[in-house]
Amino acid sequence: MKIVHTVDEVRAKVKEWRTAGLSVGLVPTMGYLHEGHKSLIDRAVAENDKVVVSVFVNPMQFGPTEDLASYPRDLQRDAALCEDAGADLIFNPEPENMYASDFSSFIDMNTLTTGLCGKSRPIHFRGVCTVVGKLFNIVQPDKAYFGQKDAQQLAVIRHMVNDLNFNLEIVGCPIIREEDGLAKSSRNTYLNPEERQAALILSKSLEHGRKLIEAGERNVSVIIKAITDMIETEPLARIDYVEIVDWNTLETVDTITGPVLNAIAVYIGKTRLIDNHIYEEV
Ligand code: PAJ
Repeated sequence: MKIVHTVDEVRAKVKEWRTAGLSVGLVPTMGYLHEGHKSLIDRAVAENDKVVVSVFVNPMQFGPTEDLASYPRDLQRDAALCEDAGADLIFNPEPENMYASDFSSFIDMNTLTTGLCGKSRPIHFRGVCTVVGKLFNIVQPDKAYFGQKDAQQLAVIRHMVNDLNFNLEIVGCPIIREEDGLAKSSRNTYLNPEERQAALILSKSLEHGRKLIEAGERNVSVIIKAITDMIETEPLARIDYVEIVDWNTLETVDTITGPVLNAIAVYIGKTRLIDNHIYEEV
């Protein structure tokens, strides 16, 4: 497995593979890889001849008060995980390599990005769409892999691909969790032991919601209140949002009649964590 830092090196490698008639999968990441990322790489390795993993902490998707500087980084460890999983190439550009000083073109969206995480992170999805669009153009993969952990991101990317006719397939992969239910995240490393315990309220409250829905509850405000009440029993938790939205449009619904996304964002101490359940069939 090779690590490259420039667009030209990626293009040269991909050209070589294409000439040999090989298929290419892409797994975009910000590094500090864990089992969640690995599940995407595993799937990409199983479904493609060659796999590119991008490792790039994208400055454009972080707000001015967010954790860009402190975001954890460990390329050596990431490389070992990728090699182990059978990836073929890591693309690890420098920010200057992705964004020239006169960079001025963006991919923006004005529907799916306004609610949920878009509310408290207003420039986030512009940064995500722009960098993912660039990665799609640089690698030109047959398939790209995204986790349902970031469900809004997955929906936004699918929509972008459809709107802008990117010629690839988006593959959504299930959330990988710790044994006690906490969704794996690079940001879990910010939690001290007490906060790590408190963070379980995210998965527990979503499970509570699941039980209500499975028991036939369809009134969204009833389910949201039950989840909110449960999160509020945890003193270290502060709710950013608890929402149930249409899984295709991400618009709020009053009654569950079709596929929905139950998404939550909760601060545990200073760390903002997200989790969700998707109900495809109700
Ligand atoms: P990052 O947070 O590193 O996540 C990279 C990919 O791994 C995303 O598709 C995310 O949904 C997936 N992932 C993270 N934790 C997961 C888990 N517990 N189970 C399953 N999948 C998980 O998301 C980003 O980076 C960036 O926004 C990016 C798309 C790379 C653009 O910069």
